Amino acid sequence: MLLTSSQVSVVLSSAIVLLFTVVLFLSGYLVQQRTVHSLQAAIKPRLPKPLPARNPIAPPTLDVKWARPMGGRPDVDGSFDQIMAAQTLEWARLAYVQLVKDHLELCSAVMLLAELHRFKSPARKILVFPRAWLQKGDDEYDPQLATTKRLLRNAARRYGVSLIPMEPLVDGADDALPSSYSLASLYALTTYERILYLQGPGTLLDVSALDSLLAFSKSEPLAAFPATPERKALSTSLLLIHPSQDDFGRLKELRSSQPLTDLELFRQTFAAEDSLISEWSLSMGNVVYESQRLRDAVDGFNETLFEQATTYVRLSDPELPGPEYDVPYYARAALRPRNEEARAAWEKLYEEFRQRRMEVCGLDLETWSKPVLSAGGAAAQEL
Ligand SMILES: *[C@@H]1O[C@H](CO)[C@@H](O)[C@H](O)[C@H]1NC(C)=O
Repeated sequence: MLLTSSQVSVVLSSAIVLLFTVVLFLSGYLVQQRTVHSLQAAIKPRLPKPLPARNPIAPPTLDVKWARPMGGRPDVDGSFDQIMAAQTLEWARLAYVQLVKDHLELCSAVMLLAELHRFKSPARKILVFPRAWLQKGDDEYDPQLATTKRLLRNAARRYGVSLIPMEPLVDGADDALPSSYSLASLYALTTYERILYLQGPGTLLDVSALDSLLAFSKSEPLAAFPATPERKALSTSLLLIHPSQDDFGRLKELRSSQPLTDLELFRQTFAAEDSLISEWSLSMGNVVYESQRLRDAVDGFNETLFEQATTYVRLSDPELPGPEYDVPYYARAALRPRNEEARAAWEKLYEEFRQRRMEVCGLDLETWSKPVLSAGGAAAQEL
């Protein structure tokens, strides 16, 4: 039986409608898939640059700071936290820590923790201090102790710092003496997987490199900043620590058997070849920089580039007592870097430290009474 022409046109138009429906469905499906993918890409957190293992293969020649997804992120919202949890990064078990033995060190420690708070680091912030400070009676007014208590309270309230009192390292030592306390007590913080200690006083210019170190390093007993570029010995200017009762016990035992500075104690306990931060990790810029090095700056030094490439500057010039002290102008002028750009950077670091000290601690500079002689360098190393 032959189809009439009207029947043919009905069949044809149905086929055309069917074809268009299929095409429409397919294109809609493709558009949807693409949207889903771009959505997934958009909500995926940009994590800090992962750190490589300890074998330095061809260090990259990066001269700017690391990408700064963590520290620079303005708002850490709920969904971001959930994604982070899904990435099994337990920020609650990673912490920055300051340890103070002396009332005079407390303000600088709080200033550093306040900077970490300002940079919105996702890691915890801890302040370890002598328990004896809490036990002194309130019957007699002691202005120094009053300041100490005010600073501790501010650290907890304003900057979300956890306060952890410590005992002298050696049992029975005089709890009023700063020398009875030790950085070894950091090893007793075993609720944390990794902690990062910075030796103060100093200024933090950025936090992303430190967040990456904390987040992506392997847990090892110690990864310390090298004392010199030759990597022969460790320093205590930056310590990345995996706390453990074993290491705490070892340090305590050694320190109980003989009087040692913290630097000596750490050097005797941890072999340098196993305990330095990998070269690769440090090739990302000036992770730790000492202000006195600005005096060696050569022509072409650029203040802007220096600030961009630097994470932490320890304010340490051997002839000066520290940035907490008011030093007469002539004494400072004699020490300033000759290079104009380096001098500007140096003066800015000291001046900003003074201003933040007032903002964070409500303290003016201390008066500088006694001139510091050549022993200054050694004193700055000891803790
Ligand atoms: C320092 O470097 C920045 C960025 O490259 C540049 O804009 C600036 O002009 C430089 N300053 C000097 C004094 O060379």
